[in-house]
Formats: sequence, structure tokens, C-alpha cells
Amino acid sequence: MENKTELPIVLEIKKVVEEAENTKTFYFDHTLNSKPGQFVMLWLPGVDEIPISVSFDDGEQFALTVFARGEASNQICGLKEGDKIGIRGPYGTMFNYAEGENLVLVGGGYGAAPLRFLANEAVKKNCKIDFMMAAKTKNKLLFVDELREMKNVTVYIATSDGSEGFKGHINETLEKVLKEKKINKIMTCGPELLMKAVGEIGDKANVQTQISIERYMKCGFGVCGQCVMDPLGIRTCVSGPVMNSKVLNMLEEFGKYRRDAEGRKQYFNK
Ligand SMILES: Cc1cc2nc3c(=O)[nH]c(=O)nc-3n(C[C@H](O)[C@H](O)[C@H](O)COP(=O)(O)OP(=O)(O)OC[C@H]3O[C@@H](n4cnc5c(N)ncnc54)[C@H](O)[C@@H]3O)c2cc1C
Ligand code: FES
Repeated sequence: MENKTELPIVLEIKKVVEEAENTKTFYFDHTLNSKPGQFVMLWLPGVDEIPISVSFDDGEQFALTVFARGEASNQICGLKEGDKIGIRGPYGTMFNYAEGENLVLVGGGYGAAPLRFLANEAVKKNCKIDFMMAAKTKNKLLFVDELREMKNVTVYIATSDGSEGFKGHINETLEKVLKEKKINKIMTCGPELLMKAVGEIGDKANVQTQISIERYMKCGFGVCGQCVMDPLGIRTCVSGPVMNSKVLNMLEEFGKYRRDAEGRKQYFNK
């Protein structure tokens, strides 16, 4: 039964796992009945309410993986087992795949979080997964040991400084795998310029590419209009976060800019 709610439910943190530098996963004894790609609004009373992707949900427990970057995420990363937070959701679209497909997942930074949930679910449906992960340095890689132990998952790593795996862009690995294997779908989550490049490679190789988009969100369920994308006015929280590259190619701001809480444009290459 779906338990989606527009009012926060208060949940106690059951377990905290330190995944990498400044990144923690919080487990809760509760299911959201969520699907990979969906997100929740995480509320820390008196601080902020921010969107976070579900990184695990097995029908008994769910988890959220948070990278400490600003005020809210830093305070969340300071929470301990037994502390309480508010959760609304799950919201948004999910990654789509069929039984037995060959999938390539490309994650950058904390973008690996929803892809970890996706890998967990897709292997149960006999999918074979090439999981490509990019990070600036080895200390920022997420879930590597866990993914390497999974049946039918092959892990590829690229770091900017060469401290683990291939030194350079994960795109080169993606292009190589697309030439060598029959791939049904590509799914990506990470920095927008990385995802734009992945979408272009997927389009060129004629492989359907699903991209998880980040935009500033306030309500998370379609009423405030904060997360619309130019020029079509598509609401990212309802039509996304997971969208097909063909849809994103029609949105002129994709790969160029996003808006902050006041609606000002923030360019990605500045
Ligand atoms: C659908 C979705 C899923 C996400 N999943 C994850 C995840 O799994 N793990 C994770 O660590 N982060 C995730 N994020 C990003 C996370 O929401 C922001 O990093 C967080 O809101 C930063 O808040 P802050 O107060 O710590 O930092 P701030 O210093 O306030 O902001 C840092 C950056 O985060 C952006 N940001 C701040 N508030 C919001 C907001 N309400 N909505 C969107 N962006 C915001 C700012 O524009 C800025 O670029 C996700 C974002 C979206 C839209
Ligand atoms: S966050 Fe309010 S409409 Fe998307």
C-alpha cells in the first residue's frame, strides 16, 4: 500500500553509516514503498527542508545518503542514532527498466545514491549492470565494496586525480562499453554537465538514456512552481527527477543553468 504523505512523518534514525568523506547514510525502520529514482523532502525543524533521493528501500527499512555541503546537509550529517527527523514523500518519477535488461548506471558523487537503490532492485529482476562511478578522489567514492560483491554487477571507477581506477572522465569508459556490449538502457545521476555528456553519448549510440535532474525544490509535489525548467515550464518534482534525455534536450536550461531559491540563474560553467 502506498503511504505517500504531504505531511511530514517523524522517524527515528536507526543506524548511521559513514560512507565516504562528508557523506553518511541514515537507515530507518520504516518503508516508503518507494521506487529507485524517487526522493523525499527531509525536514530538520528550525533549519530547512531539502530533497534527498532514496538510496535503499527493501520493504522493511529505507535509507537516505546525505553529502554535507551547506547548512542543512551539514546539520543532518551531525545527527546520531536515536535522533528524529521529518520525512515527506516519496515523490517524483522513477528509473524504468524491464526484466533481464543490460543496464549501464553512471553516477557522479552523491548521485551514486539512487543508483545504488536501482542496482539492488534491478539485479532482483535478473538485469546485468555495468556500474560506472566518477568522483574527484578515492575518498569520495560511495558503495564500491558493496557493489563489487553483488552478483551481475561490474564496477568501473574513474577519479579526477587517478587515486582509484581510471584517471580522467568516466565518459571514455561508457563509450568503450557501448561499443563492446549490447546495452538496453543508460541511467545517470550526478553533476549536470556529466549527465549532459552521458545523454549525448547515449543519444549518439541510440541507447535510451534516463537522467535524474536536480532543481531547487520547495513543495516537492507540484504546487509551488519553484522547480520549473525553461522554456516548457516542466516541473522537475512531478515530471522528474528522472527524465528521458529526449525530453531534456528540449529544455534550453539543461546543462546550462539552474535557478536558486529566489529564481536567479546559476550557470554551471561559472
Ligand atoms: C531530486 C533531488 C534529489 C537529491 N538527492 C540528494 C541525495 O540523495 N543526497 C544529497 O546529499 N543531496 C541530494 N540532493 C541535493 C540536496 O537537496 C542539496 O544538496 C541540499 O538541499 C543542500 O542544502 P544545504 O542547506 O546543505 O546547502 P545550501 O548551502 O543551502 O545549498 C547548496 C546547494 O544545494 C542547493 N539546494 C539547497 N536547498 C535546496 C533545495 N531545497 N532543493 C534543491 N537544491 C537545493 C543550492 O541551490 C546549492 O546549489 C538532491 C536534490 C534534488 C533536487
Ligand atoms: S518544488 Fe514545488 S512545484 Fe516542484
